[in-house]
Amino acid sequence: MSRSLQSLAAFLASCITACAVVHVPEPTLEMAGGSSATLSELQSGYRTYRGKCSGCHALFPVEEYDSEEWESGVAKMISLKKVKLQPEEREQLLKYLSASSAPAASSAPGR
Ligand code: HEC
Repeated sequence: MSRSLQSLAAFLASCITACAVVHVPEPTLEMAGGSSATLSELQSGYRTYRGKCSGCHALFPVEEYDSEEWESGVAKMISLKKVKLQPEEREQLLKYLSASSAPAASSAPGR
């Protein structure tokens, strides 16, 4: 099976639970630019997003905001004391949000 078919299959499998509601994709190696260290950071960010950001409002689809808007959205949540994040959690969360919201993270150099 080709790589793209495999990722399509993984995408569809994750969709059964997540995509029906909003687009909050599971991090992929592709999203991490091929780096497994980055991938594990993105996975932590993904867990933080799903675990800490869905209590009051529905999760926003990741593409709803670009990385700057995410940064200010998260800063707003923190300053309104809606959410408490360790510096590391915040960093990983923002990494995840900007990597997953970028339309073509893997093909855009310098991202
Ligand atoms: C304790 C409840 C609560 C939690 C937890 C929470 N939010 Fe919110 N969020 C709100 C409320 C209330 C608003 C509306 C605030 C406003 O517009 O002034 C909001 C609005 C937002 C907005 C829109 C901001 C804007 O200016 O339009 C974003 C983006 C957002 N939240 C992201 C997040 C993220 C990311 C997390 C997790 C880190 C999170 N929220 C966790 C309560 C919460």
